[in-house]
Amino acid sequence: MKKIILALAVASVTAVSALSALAEESNPAIVHRQGIYKTMAGHMTAMKSILFLGFEAPADLAFHAQGILDGFGHMGNAYPPGSDKGETKAKPEIWTQPDKVKQRAMDAVGAAKALVAATAGTDKGATIAAFKSMGEKCKACHDDFRKE
Ligand code: HEC
Repeated sequence: MKKIILALAVASVTAVSALSALAEESNPAIVHRQGIYKTMAGHMTAMKSILFLGFEAPADLAFHAQGILDGFGHMGNAYPPGSDKGETKAKPEIWTQPDKVKQRAMDAVGAAKALVAATAGTDKGATIAAFKSMGEKCKACHDDFRKE
């Protein structure tokens, strides 16, 4: 009898986790901000291939830099109340330290503007420096406000 109960318990746990794997996050603010962050990370990855791996599309650097800057411009109200509920990696501090979050965001926007400016020229070294600085600003916010 014990064995049967155990088997049933295992079966229902399996069913529940299969369901949650199927269920997609539906909190719009979470889905939206993660989507925007992913677009920015995509631009960073494409830039890396051009700056460090020899992919030959230097004229595209300006497009990717602008894409990152535009991403910040389209975050909207990224962390409204209630958007801590769901599949999110945002730390609770994001809702309790708004001034610090804003500072991190403004730092990142500043770096994105500098990256756009650097890619308007042809100095690869300057673009690499601006790209690294951009990455540091993304990381600074993640260190403070994103769970591992
Ligand atoms: C103001 C703080 C902040 C800045 C600046 C920031 N991020 Fe994030 N990022 C976060 C937080 C918080 C999350 C977790 C969001 C969630 O899971 O709801 C996140 C999540 C992500 C994710 C994972 C998205 C997913 O699908 O789960 C990626 C990729 C990412 N950021 C890339 C970047 C890149 C690239 C930059 C810089 C160009 C950047 N972020 C700048 C705070 C920031």
